[in-house]
Amino acid sequence: MRFSINSILACALLAAGATVAHAQTVIKFSHVVAQDTPKGKAAEFFAKKAGELTQGKVKVEVYANSALYKDKEEMEALQLGSVQMLAPSLAKFGPLGVKEFEVFDLPFIFDNRDELHKITTGPVGAGLMKKLQSRGITGLAFWDNGFKDFSANRPLHAVADYKGLKYRIQSSKVLEEEIRALGGIPQVIAFGETYQALQTGVVDATENPPSNFYTQKMHEVQKHVSLTKHGYLGYAVIVNKKFWDGLPADVRGQLEDAMRQATAYANQIAQDENDQAMEAVRKSGKTTIYTPTAEERAALKKALVPVHDKMSGRIGKDIIQEVYKATG
Ligand code: LMR
Repeated sequence: MRFSINSILACALLAAGATVAHAQTVIKFSHVVAQDTPKGKAAEFFAKKAGELTQGKVKVEVYANSALYKDKEEMEALQLGSVQMLAPSLAKFGPLGVKEFEVFDLPFIFDNRDELHKITTGPVGAGLMKKLQSRGITGLAFWDNGFKDFSANRPLHAVADYKGLKYRIQSSKVLEEEIRALGGIPQVIAFGETYQALQTGVVDATENPPSNFYTQKMHEVQKHVSLTKHGYLGYAVIVNKKFWDGLPADVRGQLEDAMRQATAYANQIAQDENDQAMEAVRKSGKTTIYTPTAEERAALKKALVPVHDKMSGRIGKDIIQEVYKATG
């Protein structure tokens, strides 16, 4: 049989076309918490929606529980393009040089989620996301988790009870100062290593929203939790900017749509997930749960609010004032 050059070329082009038509973009989405948490569930939700809305052009692979990277490495991996998407806690952007994110870590800066959402959905939130661009990162959304409680192996009632303990914290200078304000010793430890650090006595105490506390089994190694709700922990969903800008515009639009839906879902389930987690801790019978009196909480607030002024040089006076103004 004889083939003309043209027919061979046509076949080759067809074959190449078929390959292009079936090429699938893979987004590796790495995170450090369990699947059964607000962030874990929202990441899975986004993966499913992204597949549906792009009609299979994009496959999102979610790697939970620090399976790929721990806290610090995941930021580096994103910038290098080894993963495309993350949702680090807002307390982990300081080491990237974007210190303004630490405004979210200031103790008692938000009284409730409504106040927080005024920031995350308003100009302050948009301004913060913009600051990531120069780091090769595009910010897509803020996802809720919840308000943190302190835990330790001794009861935490009066401010004096917090003194002298070693605390695992996230990599935030504001959190460092928070612990020092209580007379404690802060130690930055990756989330995935926290259980072991508590178990072996490297640290004595920590702070978490209930969903993280329960799913990492910290109730097995912390005898007391105090429902202090003294600060907030939430996330920014971020992507490698070069990767994102390189996507076809229609696909990017579909992914933005998937992200909008995932954000609504994340923020809708976060409170319930945390309530259920604390209920599960209660049921386990392993940790005593204490609700501080109004006086005890006021005393804790009094001890921690000076952190705002102390850290204003680092975070920026303006952004703190903007948060005060927006939250009334
Ligand atoms: C922590 O390190 O405590 C949290 O940032 C973990 C997370 O992602 O919720």
